Amino acid sequence: MISKTAECPKCKTHITVQGNPGETTIVLCPNCNIKGNFTFQKEKAEIETISNHNIIEVKNLTKMFNGFKALDNVSFNVKKGEILGFVGPNGAGKTTTIKLLTNLLTPTSGHAYINNIDVNKNPTKALLSVGSLIEVPGIYDYLTPHEMLTYFGKIHRLNKNEINQKIKEVLKIVKLSEWEHKKIGSFSTGMQRRLAIAKAILHSPDILILDEPVIGLDPRGIKDVRDMLKQFKNKGVTIFLSSHLLNEVRETCDRIIFLDAGKVVTQGTIKEILNRIKIDTIEVEFLNQLTEVDIKKIENIPEINSFEKENGFFKIKFDGKPETSNTILTKLTEQGLKVVSFSTKKADLESFYVSIMNDEKGVI
Ligand SMILES: Nc1ncnc2c1ncn2[C@@H]1O[C@H](COP(=O)(O)OP(=O)(O)O)[C@@H](O)[C@H]1O
Ligand SMILES: [Mg+2]
Repeated sequence: MISKTAECPKCKTHITVQGNPGETTIVLCPNCNIKGNFTFQKEKAEIETISNHNIIEVKNLTKMFNGFKALDNVSFNVKKGEILGFVGPNGAGKTTTIKLLTNLLTPTSGHAYINNIDVNKNPTKALLSVGSLIEVPGIYDYLTPHEMLTYFGKIHRLNKNEINQKIKEVLKIVKLSEWEHKKIGSFSTGMQRRLAIAKAILHSPDILILDEPVIGLDPRGIKDVRDMLKQFKNKGVTIFLSSHLLNEVRETCDRIIFLDAGKVVTQGTIKEILNRIKIDTIEVEFLNQLTEVDIKKIENIPEINSFEKENGFFKIKFDGKPETSNTILTKLTEQGLKVVSFSTKKADLESFYVSIMNDEKGVI
């Protein structure tokens, strides 16, 4: 069951109607008693969720710049309806991948397919339903959003009426309606980014490819973009976004691919990746100050690999098994030590990021 708002054709009163997608229901205006039919349109999000269909397929993509391998045999897929985070440090090859996906660069070898069409061989057709955001700063400073979006509307072969209607619609989504006729040069970074998103969604694309959409934005701007992405996902749009910010991908993405030095290091859903993080540290606090004898006793507990003080807490390294953690707690209390707090360190993506980027380069 979904809720929609209908407008009475006579008195323009807004009426909330409830029903199921595809259903038609009779609506009565509470203000002027006029009766009418209301059909619940089947929106994409109501009929499609993430499917197994690969909307983007990247196969063995390699890109050389004057003998330097910026991308090295990269392969991955993006499923229809998912938000995929393409994560890696600066210089990893994210923008290069995005430029290859949008035909701004030609691959040295390998292929990128969108909807099974080779982007490099048939870019117009492959990119027909793609909206992209790749940073090109400053070039529209002398235009207004209306002028800039009109230009892009024409590129997408929308007619004048469609263009004017879409401009109003997308500027409303990105909260720039009041700035339609102001020069872009006077906009803040956040506003320019929102406008770039408006440009990307102007032709109602099914796929959004966004390069670092929140870079340089303040927390408010980041939240706005994040909320917009969720809205697009709810409409069934497939989103591929690059980022070096793990918090961003954790909040918005269904799945992540880690890229480093031009190679895919690892990939998985946020949940899968968090499950792979080994938790092998316990933080413990004692009621009384520990004597040297206490410390010796603790170090002699066989299940404890190491024991040291850090930022006022004692840190115990162990094998990461829950039953071992329980044994350690029992043995500490059996030794007469008064434990005030005892907790295993929470798994976080940041530590995973640091560990894979440092230790496992080129694993997959
Ligand atoms: N046009 C280019 N010419 C030469 N080197 C380039 C070019 N574009 C990118 N690179 C290099 O390729 C690597 C990957 O860059 P890029 O894709 O921009 O990384 P990211 O977006 O992950 O920060 C970097 O070492 C960068 O210096
Ligand atoms: Mg980049």
